[in-house]
Order: sequence, then C-alpha cells, then structure tokens
Amino acid sequence: MGKILVTGGAGFIGSHTVVELQNDGREVVVLDNLSNSSEKSLERVEAITGKKVPFYKADILDRDALEDIFSKEDIDAVIHFAGLKAVGESVAKPWEYYENNIAGTLTLVDVMRKHGCKNIIFSSSATVYGNPAFIPITEECPKGVCTNPYGWTKSMLEQILSDIQKADNEWNVILLRYFNPIGAHKSGTMGENPNGIPNNLMPFITQVAVGKRDHLNVFGNDYDTPDGTGVRDYIHVVDLAIGHVKALNKIEENAGLKIYNLGTGHGYSVLDIVKNFEEATGVKVPYEIAPRRPGDIATCYADASLAKKELGWEAKYGIKEMCEDSWRWQKNNPNGY
Ligand code: NAD
Ligand code: WQD
Repeated sequence: MGKILVTGGAGFIGSHTVVELQNDGREVVVLDNLSNSSEKSLERVEAITGKKVPFYKADILDRDALEDIFSKEDIDAVIHFAGLKAVGESVAKPWEYYENNIAGTLTLVDVMRKHGCKNIIFSSSATVYGNPAFIPITEECPKGVCTNPYGWTKSMLEQILSDIQKADNEWNVILLRYFNPIGAHKSGTMGENPNGIPNNLMPFITQVAVGKRDHLNVFGNDYDTPDGTGVRDYIHVVDLAIGHVKALNKIEENAGLKIYNLGTGHGYSVLDIVKNFEEATGVKVPYEIAPRRPGDIATCYADASLAKKELGWEAKYGIKEMCEDSWRWQKNNPNGY
C-alpha cells in the first residue's frame, strides 16, 4: 500500500494514531487546518517515532488543496478524523457543524474517488446509538435519536459513506464507533489539548488536579446507575490508535463496508473515575454534585467482541493506566502544547 492520509492528524486521536502507524512502518501524510490543534503535536510525534511527518495545513472543504495533495502524494487510504466535535457548540452552531463535517467529508470523498483512492476509515462515535436500545451495545444495536447536531453529523456521515460503498463496491469503508477516549501517550509529551473549558470529563479532572479549576461538577447523581452518576466506556487513546492500524489491515483484505465498536466493554461511573484518578495519581479531585447536563444518557458501554474477532484488536490498557497517563501529560504540560 502507498501512503496513508490522516485528516485531523494533528488532533488528539489523530496524532496518537500517526505514532502507531509510523511505528507499524506505514508512510503517513497529515492534513489538518489546525482549527482545534497545534502543529506541535506533530513535532512530538516525530520525537517519539524518529520519522518525519509530512504535513499539509489545509481544510477538507478546500477542494483545490485536496486536489493538490492527492496529485502530489501517492495516497491509497484515508483515515478521516477531521471534524468539529464539541457537543454543546454544535447545538449553538448547527450550520457550522453540518458544513464542516458533512460538506467537508463530501468534498474529501469526491476528490478521493477522482484520484482512484477508495479506502476510508471514518471516526464515528457511540453517540450514533442515541439512548442505546440495549447494553452492552453491539454493532447490531439500532442507531438512535441523537440529541445534538454533532451526533447527527456522525450518524448522517455513516449513512452517506455506507450508501457510497453500496453503489460502488470498489470502496472499502470502515466505520469505527469510538466510546470515550481518554489517556495519553506514555511519554507524557502528547495528549488532549482542549481550548477553553473542557467539555469532557477527563480533561476537566486533570485541570482540577493541576489547580486550573477548583472543583469538578458531577452532572447528576440521580441516574439509574449503581451510584447515580453516568456510566461510560473509557478507552485509552493508544488502544484506539492501534485499532486504526488493525482497521487498515482489514481494508487491505477488501473489507467492503464494516462497522466496529472500539471500546473496552467496561462501564465506569463519574465517581468511579474520580476515585480511580485519585488512587492512580495521589492527587485529590474535589467535586460537587450539579444538575444533569442536557442530552446526557445514564449508561453507555460497548460489546467490543466483533473488533476482537474480525480485527484481532482488543483494548489492553485499564482504567489505572488511563488515569496515570492523562495525568502525566497534564502535569508535564499544564498549558497544553
Ligand atoms: P480533535 O479536535 O483533537 O481532532 C480533530 C482535528 O480535525 C483537529 O486537529 C482539527 O484542527 C481538525 N479539523 C477540524 N475541522 C477540519 C477541517 N475542516 N479541515 C481540516 N482539519 C479539520 O478531536 P479528536 O478527539 O482527536 O477527534 C477525532 C475524530 O474522532 C473527530 O472526528 C471526532 O468527532 C471523533 N470522535 C471523537 C471522540 C472523542 O471523545 N474525542 C469520540 C468519538 C468520535
Ligand atoms: C462523561 C460523563 C457526564 C464532564 C461525549 C460526546 C460523545 C463522544 C465522547 C465524540 C458523563 C460526566 C462530564 C463534567 C461530568 N464524543 N461529566 N462533569 O458525554 O459520554 O460523550 O464525548 O464523539 O459524542 O457526547 O463524554 O466526557 O463529556 O462525559 O459529570 O465536567 O462524565 O455527565 O456522564 P460523553 P463526557
């Protein structure tokens, strides 16, 4: 196989995936508009792998820029992370989310097919299950009603990419539904770098731990869960990254259309995470119980056995390492990149 284009490769999951791809001997090209990331993440990748990361600062909406990249580089497959992902912001700015995520992906896919590149791995999300019909969630679980435009962009893009593959079976499309990615590279030099107030639990916890925020608000303790707080399937970002390497191997077997959950199969409550974080790091995380956050569901965790069976992939890091690694990154880089 020729080169792998990683869109959104400067971001949290993308940058960790570039490390694993390069470690696996793949030739990688990164495209990112840096709207939610820093080019420094790629310098950190280079320091870890000892290999250059060819980088194009470009937007997936910019057809000419994409044409230029596909003309210059021999790209055989795309791992498509580029997208806006803040749930709350998507409610306030639906047009921007549909434009960026959907129009951007349509442009990307059109340029791909014009250049004969019909292999794509797409970053989907457990959010497409809505309030899941059953737990643990298998890929057979029906897609549900999303509670925000961000979620709908993922759900719609799954449909769009599936339809494109059905119409032209030269396409190989793998939809990866991520559960809740946390953790960071073991080196402590790469990690999640949110702008402003973090939306997600783990970056909020690490910012409390490092003294940037005084306490965590726990969004609701009256859910139908063992301790009343929301239960999620947290997965180490390096495990997730390795899942993409395995999915690429599957693409090379002419996979057609495939859908995989990438999770650990374990559910942890918000208070479980606080407790595990405190135990793993020795740092206290003060918290207060706050009202439920609109759109949140009680429980979400994966049955990830299909990815094990068909990709030979399973998560190997547990919650302790996820907490330790998130903390090492935050402690060493209190202000991010
Ligand atoms: P991230 O914001 O760190 O990475 C996304 C990258 O895409 C950023 O570097 C951003 O600059 C870039 N980007 C955005 N719009 C672009 C555009 N129009 N052109 C070029 N680059 C653009 O987010 P992440 O957590 O690494 O997520 C990666 C992907 O995985 C996203 O598609 C996200 O929706 C999806 N996902 C994330 C999670 C999560 O909780 N982090 C869960 C499920 C799915
Ligand atoms: C986890 C739990 C919160 C913050 C989101 C997206 C989903 C996917 C992953 C992209 C919940 C609670 C959180 C805080 C809290 N992203 N919480 N205090 O909501 O499961 O999933 O990110 O695809 O689409 O919706 O993740 O980390 O925001 O929340 O109590 O300050 O932590 O209520 O139970 P979520 P999260």
